[in-house]
Amino acid sequence: MQYRRVVEIMTEKAVGTELEVRGWVRSCRNSKEVSFIDVNDGSCLASLQVVADGPLTNYSDEVKRLANGCAIVVRGTLCASPAQGQAVELRAASIKVVGWAPEDYPLQKKRHSFEFLREIAHLRPRTNSLGAVSRVRSALAYAVHTFFVERGFFYVHTPIISTGDCEGAGETFRVTALDLEQLAKAGGPVDWGQDFFGQPANLTVSGQLEAEAYAMALGRVYTFGPTFRAENSNTSRHLAEFWMVEPEMAFCDLDDDIDLAESFLKYLVRYALERCPDDLALMAKHIEPELIPRLENVLARDFVRLPYTEAVSLLVKANESFTYPVEWGADLHSEHERFLTEQVFKQPLVVTDYPLGIKPFYMRANDDGKTVAAMDILFPGIGEIVGGSQREERLERLVARMEGAGMSLDAYQWYLDLRRYGSAPHAGFGLGFERIVQFVTGMKNIREVIPFPRTPGSAGF
Ligand code: 4AD
Ligand code: MG
Repeated sequence: MQYRRVVEIMTEKAVGTELEVRGWVRSCRNSKEVSFIDVNDGSCLASLQVVADGPLTNYSDEVKRLANGCAIVVRGTLCASPAQGQAVELRAASIKVVGWAPEDYPLQKKRHSFEFLREIAHLRPRTNSLGAVSRVRSALAYAVHTFFVERGFFYVHTPIISTGDCEGAGETFRVTALDLEQLAKAGGPVDWGQDFFGQPANLTVSGQLEAEAYAMALGRVYTFGPTFRAENSNTSRHLAEFWMVEPEMAFCDLDDDIDLAESFLKYLVRYALERCPDDLALMAKHIEPELIPRLENVLARDFVRLPYTEAVSLLVKANESFTYPVEWGADLHSEHERFLTEQVFKQPLVVTDYPLGIKPFYMRANDDGKTVAAMDILFPGIGEIVGGSQREERLERLVARMEGAGMSLDAYQWYLDLRRYGSAPHAGFGLGFERIVQFVTGMKNIREVIPFPRTPGSAGF
C-alpha cells in the first residue's frame, strides 16, 4: 500500500493501483449506502473524491458522520471516475478517522469573505484561495533563489537586529531588554548603555547596507529575509513585517541594476505561469478575471524607462485632480504612480533619477547636482514594487550627504570603510516580496498573501 499525495495521484492517474491518502474532508454527501467524500491534502488545489460504498466496518458509526474539517486516512483502489470534472476517484477499502471536527468548524462549504478569514488566519490556508496563494508564494520564494543562483549570486544572511536606519525614515521598531514598566515608574531618562547591546537597537528596515559589504567581497550577492517598518500606513499594500529580496552587485551602474530587476520580475512571473497553472486559474476565476493577460503583459515588452522629471511633466499635463499636488521635488504618491502605470503606459514602468532631497543618503548623486541614480519600478494594480539605486561610492560625497542628513558618522564608520578600501561602483534594489505575490495572484489586499499579517493594531496568531 503506497502513500501518495493528491497532486501525485492527479498527475499519475494510475488507475488500478492500491494506495493511501491522508487529508482533510472538504465536503461529503451521503446517499443510502454510498458516501462521496472530497479529501484535500494541501498538495494541490484539487481534492480527491473518495467513494465509500464497500463493506466498511465503521461505515454507519463513523464514515456517515464525517463532516468538513475531519482528518482521515483512506486506503483503497484508484478507479476511473464516471463523474464529470475528475479523471479518477478512490474506492475506499478502509477509512480511518484520525481527527474529528465538530459542527462548529468555521469553514463550511460556502464562500467566506477575506475579512472574516483574516480572523481565523490559522485555518484560512485550508480554503481553496488561501491554499492557492500559499503554494504560489512558496513557488515564488524558490524561484527567487534559482534566479540568483543561476546567475552566480551568493545568498547572504543579513542581521535582523540592527543599530542603523538604512532608509532614514525613522520608522523602526525598538528592540530592548530593558524593563519598560520599571523605567516608566522610575521616570528618569533611559540609559541605553544599560541595555542589552549597550546602545539603542531596532529591527532592521532593510538588509542593504550589510549586503553592500558582502557585494564588495563576493561581487554579487542577495538577501531574502524579513524586514520591519513601524510606518502607520493602514493600506492594502503595507505591512509592518514584510519580506524583501535585495540583490547587490559590485562594478555595476543604474542601467545594469534596472536590467537585472526587469529580468528578475519577468522570471518570477513566468515561473508562476509555468509552475502554478491550476492555482492561478482559480485566482483568475474568483479574484481577478484579467489576471492571466495582466501577467502575460509583463512578459510581452521591455519595461518603459522614464526619468522622474519627465514623469512629473506628464502628470502636470494630465490635468487629473489628484489628492496630492504634483510638483518637481515632491515624492510621487501612490495615486500618481498608479496613474502613470495604469492609465498612461498600461504596463510596468521604471521611473529613474529622482530628486536628491527625497531619497536616502546612500544613493549616488548625478552630475546635475539635483538628482540621484535611483529607480522605482511601478506595476499596474500595485504601484511601487521595486526600489533601488546605484550607491554613492565616493567617500567625500557620501560623508557630505550623511552630514547633511544629520546622521552620526561614528555609527557608520564601517559603511564608510567600504568607500575607503577598494571602493567600486555598485548598485542594487529591493523587491517587496508580498507585492509580487499580490501581483501574481491578483489578491487585492497584501494581508492575504502573507500567512500571519502584522499591521497597525494587529499581531495576533
Ligand atoms: O523602496 P524601499 O524602501 O527600498 C529599500 O528598502 C532599499 N534599501 C532597497 C535596496 O535598494 N536594497 O523598499 C523596497 C520595496 C518597495 O519597493 C516595496 O515593494 C517594498 O519594499 N515595501 C513594502 N512592502 C510591504 N509593506 C511595506 N511597508 C513596504 N515598504 C516597502
Ligand atoms: Mg521605495
